[in-house]
Amino acid sequence: MTSDGWRHQPVRAGDPARPAVRSTGSLLVDNIGELVTNSAGEGAGGPLGLRRDAALLVEDGLVAWIGPARDAPAADRRIDAEGAAVLPGFVDSHAHLVFAGDRAAEFAARMAGQPYTGGGIRTTVGATRAASDDELRGTVRRLRAEAMRQGTTTIEIKSGYGLTVADEARSLRIAAEVTEETTFLGAHVVPAEYADRPDDYVGMVCGPMLAAAAPYARWIDVFCERGAFDVDHARAILACGQAVGLGVRVHANQLGPGPGVRLGVELGAASVDHCTHLTDADIDALAGSPTVATLLPGAEFSTRSPYPDARRLLDAGVTVALATDCNPGSSYTSSMPFCIALAVREMRMTPAEAVWAATAGGAMALRRDDVGRLRPGARADLMILDAPSHLHLAYRPGVPLTRQVLHNGVPQCRP
Ligand code: NIG
Ligand code: FE
Repeated sequence: MTSDGWRHQPVRAGDPARPAVRSTGSLLVDNIGELVTNSAGEGAGGPLGLRRDAALLVEDGLVAWIGPARDAPAADRRIDAEGAAVLPGFVDSHAHLVFAGDRAAEFAARMAGQPYTGGGIRTTVGATRAASDDELRGTVRRLRAEAMRQGTTTIEIKSGYGLTVADEARSLRIAAEVTEETTFLGAHVVPAEYADRPDDYVGMVCGPMLAAAAPYARWIDVFCERGAFDVDHARAILACGQAVGLGVRVHANQLGPGPGVRLGVELGAASVDHCTHLTDADIDALAGSPTVATLLPGAEFSTRSPYPDARRLLDAGVTVALATDCNPGSSYTSSMPFCIALAVREMRMTPAEAVWAATAGGAMALRRDDVGRLRPGARADLMILDAPSHLHLAYRPGVPLTRQVLHNGVPQCRP
């Protein structure tokens, strides 16, 4: 562990400023006008660790070297960034991609004044249960590819629209085909068949459902909210997950104030997500903890709700992440650039804060130290923008600015 609290993987032997170049497999990203590293270091300025006129060498899927373009070593292949900005790939730490069905009519009704209650979750549960594995797989892969085209190289995917033992297990199995960040959300809502016996449902979630889901999951999550799970049920479910080795995350304080955020902090959650309605006690609890507050402005946009007070969290010293919450009900967007633009325009985050929250912040929300930053030893997950600076992500909202994405050092399709 280094002084910045992140585990750095060893850089290979030799002069790190002028690495020896292997004979095969190296890739140089050259002529970078602005490099966002999110890493402090020589020549790296501000919270984004900005470097000008830089180059970055990739070997074996990892960043092998970063330095001034004039010192760039030879490599087997070269990508000319043509003076553009290069950023770490986005880390979308909150998404619900395993579902079937369409709730566009619900969105239209909200835009005409209907409130969002979460009641539509059961609609998606019905459609998801009725779908084949291949239908669900098709949706997950389509949305994963859509996110990648917009610069997302790491994505967390939750279950939560199956709510039977078999449907939760298959949701996670399908999610695990495209990401290592999978989250068991059997406690999304109490399904209709258990409506009058929620204690029985909680017992089932903690028993056979958890046993079937855990082999495919890294995390456990609960929707702790009035109308979903109360704090006692949420604590019991999260504790069962912890007991089998899952990390904790919580959907908390989305629709109103409540105990979810403080429960997450109490249990050492990696992240509490939404955080739309916070009291001073919630902020104090977060500020003194390693728990990240993950804000999901796509949900406030799509439910026409007030945005979370990001400035209050940041000014209190809370670590903030941004994520899409991509799901068919409350936030059907896979676009991290859209979330950055909303955070800057509607939540008074600076562009630098928003870009950091969408990259390094998301990595912290997933307790990952190999993504979200660019430095020797990190995964070579990055994007080249069609723009000279990270500012353009908020300055040019709605414009597809991602020119090229590298995932594990491998160039993805050009959009
Ligand atoms: O994070 N809040 C709970 N779950 C999702 C919404 C799911 C839905 O409406 O289908 C969310 O916003
Ligand atoms: Fe969510």
